[in-house]
Amino acid sequence: MADLQNQVALITGGASGIGAATARLFAERGAHVVIADLQEEMGADLANDIEGTFVRVDVTKEADVQAAVDAAVEQYGQLDCMFNNAGFGGALGPIDETSEEDYDITMDVLLKGVFFGIKHAARVMKPRNAGNILSTASVAGLMAGYSPHLYAVAKAAVIQLTQTTALELAHWQIRVNCICPGFIVTPLAAGLDADEEQMMRFREFAAGAQPVKRAGDPRDIAEAAAFLASDSASFITGHAQVVDGGVSVGRSWTRQASWITQTRPISVYRPPGR
Ligand SMILES: NC(=O)c1ccc[n+]([C@@H]2O[C@H](COP(=O)([O-])OP(=O)(O)OC[C@H]3O[C@@H](n4cnc5c(N)ncnc54)[C@H](O)[C@@H]3O)[C@@H](O)[C@H]2O)c1
Repeated sequence: MADLQNQVALITGGASGIGAATARLFAERGAHVVIADLQEEMGADLANDIEGTFVRVDVTKEADVQAAVDAAVEQYGQLDCMFNNAGFGGALGPIDETSEEDYDITMDVLLKGVFFGIKHAARVMKPRNAGNILSTASVAGLMAGYSPHLYAVAKAAVIQLTQTTALELAHWQIRVNCICPGFIVTPLAAGLDADEEQMMRFREFAAGAQPVKRAGDPRDIAEAAAFLASDSASFITGHAQVVDGGVSVGRSWTRQASWITQTRPISVYRPPGR
């Protein structure tokens, strides 16, 4: 079990879904948690529950991210883990109907917000020669077809930024990793205004969406984050950790529309003459 005793962790998007599950798990494992989110009531309630702190942050605004990092350091003396997790679905629809405004807001939240997070975490971690930075990317950033265009592009960029900054910040013993979730049951994936029944229907869909036949839970991502944030992962940096029940592994060969599987019983294939 990943020990986070006395770590100080700042989690953007910590009021809901993956961020909220991570805030709870980190607190259970001994961390001081700062929740940074736009959703004030939910964030403050959760912070209260886990004896952490809430700060209202819009990750698209550099001054907000900078102030949240400084507040964490001021309150707890240091920042050990920065988790850039805030996100939303971004622009939907066909490419020829996507507006410049939709492009900007999608990239601002999903990429610029992560850039600000890494930048300001590095600023306070470098003088200590310690720290680790995590971001939530997605399987959609690894291959096409899992999300709308700009979401996929932004998440691919988060994976690249993880790798380029991991190379730079290793000099200061700062590790930088990201997590690529598959289908996880959260308001973002089910629909932000989803009621309980719609959430349940999404959970049923998600249970059948990948080789591992259960729905992905925010806690699955939180466990990966806890491991990557812990000393057990001290030799891991620049890594994009996939947590997806196998959805991005590929299609099972037995379900391919291939000549072999259509014309022969599935058993050992023997060459002619044997
Ligand atoms: N749920 C999935 O299936 C899935 C899959 C892959 C990746 N992700 C990623 O996981 C991350 C968390 O999403 P989730 O599924 O838990 O969704 P969620 O909607 O439950 O949580 C997202 C949180 O981010 C906050 N947020 C959004 N914009 C913000 C901003 N500008 N400033 C500050 N906070 C902001 C929201 O208020 C919310 O609390 C996102 O980056 C998302 O892209 C989710």
